[in-house]
Amino acid sequence: MAHIGIGFLGCGNIGCGVYRLLEEQTHHIEQNEGVRFDVRRILVRDTRRARAAQIPQAMLTDRPEDVLCDPEIRIVLEFMGGEEPAASYMIRALSAGKSVVTANKMALASRWTDIVAAARQSGAGLYYEASVCGAVPILRALNHSLQANRVESVTGIINGTTNYILSRMSREGASYGDVLADAQRMGLAEPDPTADVEGYDAAYKLSILATLAFHQHVPVDCVYREGITHVEPIDIQCGRELGLTLKLLAVAKEKDGKIEARVHPAFVPDRHPLASVSDAFNAVYVRGHACGEMMFYGRGAGDMPTASAIVSDLICAASADRHALPAVSDEPCSVAEDWRCQHFVRMLASDEPGVLAAVCSRFAEHGVSIETVVQKGERDRQGRAQLILLTHEASERAVRGALSEIGRGVAELGSVIRVEGR
Ligand SMILES: NC(=O)c1ccc[n+]([C@@H]2O[C@H](COP(=O)([O-])OP(=O)(O)OC[C@H]3O[C@@H](n4cnc5c(N)ncnc54)[C@H](OP(=O)(O)O)[C@@H]3O)[C@@H](O)[C@H]2O)c1
Repeated sequence: MAHIGIGFLGCGNIGCGVYRLLEEQTHHIEQNEGVRFDVRRILVRDTRRARAAQIPQAMLTDRPEDVLCDPEIRIVLEFMGGEEPAASYMIRALSAGKSVVTANKMALASRWTDIVAAARQSGAGLYYEASVCGAVPILRALNHSLQANRVESVTGIINGTTNYILSRMSREGASYGDVLADAQRMGLAEPDPTADVEGYDAAYKLSILATLAFHQHVPVDCVYREGITHVEPIDIQCGRELGLTLKLLAVAKEKDGKIEARVHPAFVPDRHPLASVSDAFNAVYVRGHACGEMMFYGRGAGDMPTASAIVSDLICAASADRHALPAVSDEPCSVAEDWRCQHFVRMLASDEPGVLAAVCSRFAEHGVSIETVVQKGERDRQGRAQLILLTHEASERAVRGALSEIGRGVAELGSVIRVEGR
């Protein structure tokens, strides 16, 4: 039986989950994999703090060297969170020849080049399945199972908190603020929800997904990002009446050598598999030229689902004869400056002859054709009514151009939401 020394960087939600899962599965791992993992040291900020796992006090340390410089530790598991010092510690571990397993999308996406270079130089392993969609094995699928494909697009619901908020807004007609407050009370949203609701978390994950899908580094600052804070129940309601469900989507596409990567609220048709992904669940919908379309679905967060991916990576790291790095070109990717999709537009327009024609002609002048127009509800005191338009697929730039002209005196713009997957 091989004994492998491992060390943790961090022991909060995820670290404690991994510790418990390793204890629970020791026998299974020994029997099936022929390896025993010995946790030697665990780095934390405060060694006196109570933990959600029964960890011997002597294992805890607040000195990073105890993990990074212990020659008996062959594999370092990182779940501290944040870019620094996590990224520097991972680089130090890799440079010392220790394999690294991480759940940290922020550090990995922000410092991809440095971290991968350290792994390449020393030949140590770098494993990060848990950094995107927790238990869902989407990175392994992109790296291994779909190798024969030219991936055309990856579309995902990759942030559980925002999916929970939008699912409840959709079901209950509740406001964003009310559902967020509830999610915070239930521990499903952080006290400071910015990383989730403004789309940062999803942007880090999309940077990693797109990099692996298209074999080119897609830095996180190339990911367009828009959060859900401005989503209004009326838009969700109007979308439903058109057979559309609102999601925070992460979309990455490759066409003619250009990559588009964007995180923003988007409608998907009710019949699309992503529409049925509710609450805190995650899913990634992949389109490959040979495999066609497929969807990966499951729990994207939580201690045990995340620990499931981490322990699986740990076993891979322990059993690999040679650690493979993803086939990703070092050349900077070429980012698409415009993209095409359908758009849902809500505006307040005077309910009188000629207004609709004026709106439509502005769109036509920019080459945007309209698929559906619906007038909704009663007129307001100024005699205006809600006008909902669904464009055909059109360039984002053209739609914005038309809308800026419409906003100058033709109608008052309410919201513009992209539509994917129709
Ligand atoms: N939570 C999830 O569901 C989930 C899912 C997928 C991926 N992840 C990723 O997993 C990572 C960890 O998340 P988490 O929820 O477990 O976070 P957490 O509960 O806040 O735990 C962070 C741990 O790191 C330690 N730590 C932080 N900064 C440190 C420093 N400078 N020096 C020493 N120790 C330090 C903390 O020590 P103390 O305990 O002493 O404060 C704590 O044990 C993050 O990268 C996150 O994005 C989380």
